[in-house]
Parts: sequence; C-alpha cells; structure tokens
Amino acid sequence: MQIACVGVVGCGLMGSGIAEVVARAGSDVVVVEADEVAAKAGLARIEKSVDTAVARGKLDAATGERVLGQLRVVSDFDALADRQLVIEAVPEVEQLKVATFKRLDDVVEHGDAVLASNTSSIPIMKLAMATRRPEHVLGLHFFNPVPVLPLVELVTSLLTGSDAAARAVSFAEDSLGKCVIRSQDRAGFIVNALLIPYLLSAIRMLESGFASAGDIDTGMVQGCAHPMGPLALTDLIGLDTTMAVAESLYTEFKEPLYAPPPMLSRMVEAGLLGRKTGRGFFDYER
Ligand code: CAA
Repeated sequence: MQIACVGVVGCGLMGSGIAEVVARAGSDVVVVEADEVAAKAGLARIEKSVDTAVARGKLDAATGERVLGQLRVVSDFDALADRQLVIEAVPEVEQLKVATFKRLDDVVEHGDAVLASNTSSIPIMKLAMATRRPEHVLGLHFFNPVPVLPLVELVTSLLTGSDAAARAVSFAEDSLGKCVIRSQDRAGFIVNALLIPYLLSAIRMLESGFASAGDIDTGMVQGCAHPMGPLALTDLIGLDTTMAVAESLYTEFKEPLYAPPPMLSRMVEAGLLGRKTGRGFFDYER
C-alpha cells in the first residue's frame, strides 16, 4: 500500500514541522489538535515556516501555496479515520502518548495503517501495547527544525512487523527524502542517548558557576564547529522536553548522567522553557 494519506496528531514545534514536510512531499495531510484555538495556532506556525522557506528561496511561491492547500488542521480526532500513516507528536508525556495510541487504535480504520510516534525517548513497546495492533506501531523520530534537518530515527519494538517497518522507511526515504537510521527500542534511541547527557553536562557546568552561558556555548560553536551551543540548543528543543527526555532515560537506565540537574527542574517549574516562552538560558523576541 503506497502511503498517500497521512495524519499527524499535535501541531506544536514538531507536529507542525512534520506536517509541513509531509505536505511538501505531496501527501494529503490531516493534523489534529486538542481544540480550535490550538488548531489555529498550529496552522499559523506552519504558514510562518512555509513563508520563511519561500522567502529564503527553498520553495517557490506556487509550491508554498500547494503545500498549504494539502493540509488541514482540525480539532476532530475522527478525521484520522481514513489515514494510511499517522504520526503522533503530542508532548513528551507518557500517559498522554499512551492515551493517544488508544484513541488511534479505535479511530484509524485501515487494518494495515502504520501508527508511528515521534517520541524522543519513550520506549515504543509502551505505546504499542496500548493498541490491539502492536505489529503496526513504530517510532519515526524527526529532528527540530524538521524542514531543515534530514535525519529520521526508525525505532521498531519487539512486536513491530517487518512490513510496517519497510513501508515507514520507504515513506521517510523515498517520499520525504530523509536519511533514516535504525535503533533498538531503548529510551532515547541513538541520538538522544548521546545528546541529552551532553546538554545536561552544560547545564551542570552553568549551575556550578564554572563558566557563563555565553562562554559555554561559544566554546562549542567556535571550538568544535557545532551549529549552536548546548544551552541555545536546549532552548530550541524546549527545557520541558529536554527534562522529559532526561527523565525517560533515567527511568530506563538509572545512570546519574541522565538525571536532570536541579537548575533544569527549577527553570521548567518557573515556565522558562526556552524559545517558545521567550526565555530559557537566553532571551528571545517573541
Ligand atoms: N524551510 C526550509 N529551510 C529552512 C527553513 C524552513 N522553514 N527555515 C530555515 N531554513 C534553512 C535556511 O534557509 C538555511 O539554509 P541555507 O544554510 O541553505 O541558507 C538553514 O535552514 C539555516 O537557517 P537559518 O539561517 O535561519 O539559521 P541558522 O543558520 O542559524 O541555523 C539551525 C539554525 C538550523 C537551527 C542550526 O543552528 C542548527 O541546525 N542547529 C542544531 C539543531 C539541532 O541540533 N537540532 C536537533 C535537536 S534534537 C531534536 O530535535 C530531537 C529531540 O528529540 C529532542
């Protein structure tokens, strides 16, 4: 079955980017948000990104219009009924993701539809077991900003069928033009298992007074040619998401290197979540 009708659940930072790249690839996309207000904000996020791509010459104006014409952002979960692939991108909260997979199992009618999660860290088996079709559940993990970064991690659980995995890889590589790497079903998969301890180390360095935020980031940009420093990257990912991923990793492996430092916990409690709230380790115009 060629995947032409795609659903996305959640139109935040990741969901909006995923919806945009899927529509750019020519698929029909339905995005579901929790309510009308969130749906409107999600569509505005996609429009802004498409406008940026057109302004920077990455898309021509006609293609930009076509992309927006292929997308619907709605608040009705039942609109996912006819989808051949659904990518869940709700916040990184296990109960929320489990509840979403239960609903997807009830609503999606295609018997062999692929139900994918964009989770950064939650083991896929926990989501698969919320459904009656674990053989069709897998992880398709995109990277932020989704229209810019080419990587997708494919995560298969012990119960994922080879047919669902093959269709997901073919969609990500051939339709979306992404670079796919495969990971076993362990919290954090490949990239976050490596990235999160690095980000947490930078936060511990700042917390201990070892160096300033600016100098920590400049060190990694100027000294190691990273496109951005670890604290700016944490602001981009969102401090709440970074903390949720760290907690999943810590729960899975019980290694101190994954434990969120108190400074990160306090900032999340204070609502200083990074770019999306205008303040994290650095300040941003909103
Ligand atoms: N569509 C298409 N292209 C776009 C675009 C859009 N909506 N927005 C920006 N671009 C393009 C720009 O045109 C530019 O392309 P060229 O270099 O060819 O001109 C390029 O993307 C970079 O954009 P900017 O000039 O605006 O910004 P920048 O050069 O400062 O780069 C950045 C910004 C892309 C975020 C870069 O700093 C970067 O790659 N940082 C690292 C991000 C990263 O590590 N992300 C992974 C986070 S971890 C994650 O997501 C997973 C998780 O589970 C937590």
